[in-house]
Amino acid sequence: MSKSVFVKTYGCQMNVYDSARMQDVLAPLGYGIVETAEEADLVILNTCHIREKAVEKVYSELGRYRDLKAARGGNMTIAVAGCVGQAEGEEITRRMKSVDLVFGPQTYHRLPELLKQREDTGLAVVEIEFAVDDKFKGLAREQVRQPSSRSVTAFLTIQEGCDKFCTFCVVPYTRGAEFSRAPAQIVEEARKLADQGVRELTLLGQNVNAYHSGSATLASLITELSQIGGIHRIRYMTSHPRDMSDDLIEAHGANPKLMPYLHLPIQSGSDRVLKAMNRGHTTDQYLKLIDRIRAAQPRIAMTSDFIVGFPGETDQEFEETLQLVRDVNYAGAYSFKYSPRPGTPAATRDDQIPETVKNERLVRLQALLTGQQAAFYQSCVGQTLTVLLEKSGRQKGQLIGRSPYLQSVHVEAPESLIGSFIEAQILSVGPNSLSGQYVSLTPNGGHLI
Ligand code: 5AD
Ligand code: SF4
Repeated sequence: MSKSVFVKTYGCQMNVYDSARMQDVLAPLGYGIVETAEEADLVILNTCHIREKAVEKVYSELGRYRDLKAARGGNMTIAVAGCVGQAEGEEITRRMKSVDLVFGPQTYHRLPELLKQREDTGLAVVEIEFAVDDKFKGLAREQVRQPSSRSVTAFLTIQEGCDKFCTFCVVPYTRGAEFSRAPAQIVEEARKLADQGVRELTLLGQNVNAYHSGSATLASLITELSQIGGIHRIRYMTSHPRDMSDDLIEAHGANPKLMPYLHLPIQSGSDRVLKAMNRGHTTDQYLKLIDRIRAAQPRIAMTSDFIVGFPGETDQEFEETLQLVRDVNYAGAYSFKYSPRPGTPAATRDDQIPETVKNERLVRLQALLTGQQAAFYQSCVGQTLTVLLEKSGRQKGQLIGRSPYLQSVHVEAPESLIGSFIEAQILSVGPNSLSGQYVSLTPNGGHLI
């Protein structure tokens, strides 16, 4: 009998990847994918714990599902996955009796078994052990189930977890220690994706450039993946400044399949704050790194993450962050108010910054970053960029693709060109996108390899 699953995903790309893999492991049990909880026999909330209100959001969504389940006489299975599941564990099933399953990011390959356990025992199941190696072995992907609109691009998790313990961050506790998958396993998965029409891979990891397996590094893995005929573009995220090795920097200049885009979070422009955050690098080291990356690939678009209002951050230290942003000149960046995460060292400090100050700082930082992003987008006008067409746009005849710099580009082109690389002349800048005009087809993604 066919059943249906709805997966709601919060948070990072890693969760997007995990949600797709959950759908994969459920497919052999007869689960088809549906787009709303109302249509689903099984609802999975794949949660994120990185910032504020994550837990409350999960409970309020679960309240909605509880009502839905009650309206169906209990005929529905509710599961909480991801980092809130990992962090909260049994607390969830205590607070929400309607929840059937709780599991963390490391255990979802065992979903069929957990569902069966729930059915056999009639008791809620909480499974939050760490066993990353087993997870990837249990996830050989026979069938790729990326969301269809993005099927010419795919996420591929190559590394998980973090050993860095930045004092604000919950990831080392929810995702566990650093773990790198074996290159052969990754290459096999990439080949399957290429066979199914994927042209662009984004390699994912919480510390993706810390990837190492035997003698393999991220740079050597990228070289290997570049040999796969159908794959024309490779990206990776998120990187840590401490792990930006020489071979990886070099690859940005030498490998035409490696896109000129790098997300390299610094978090703060103050050395004192960086130290208190336990980042393990100074602003000077970061700036020198950027110089070297730009020397290797002058066209590279740099982005970052910032936290404002870390405990003890002074006005002067915040000014230093603004100065660093001016010095680097980003193509875009994410910025957040510091949010105390339970169990992290910074959360217990008694010099927390008032919310009003955090708000003011965030507004100022975002104004600066938005201006830089706008200038970067504007600088693309008049250029001809290679665009990988991914999906139809909202308007008739419009397609949406991505530039090498990960910008959305809107062009008028026939639908048959989805999955193709085209040359597009950029005419104007929209809100968070570029508009371009079709010029010609680009053979081979623009590379001769
Ligand atoms: N408060 C605010 N932002 C945070 N981030 C991680 N933890 C916190 C926190 N406690 C941000 C960092 C990180 C991004 C993924 O989320 O900037 O790079
Ligand atoms: Fe969190 Fe720092 Fe690890 Fe990034 S490097 S996941 S911010 S602890």
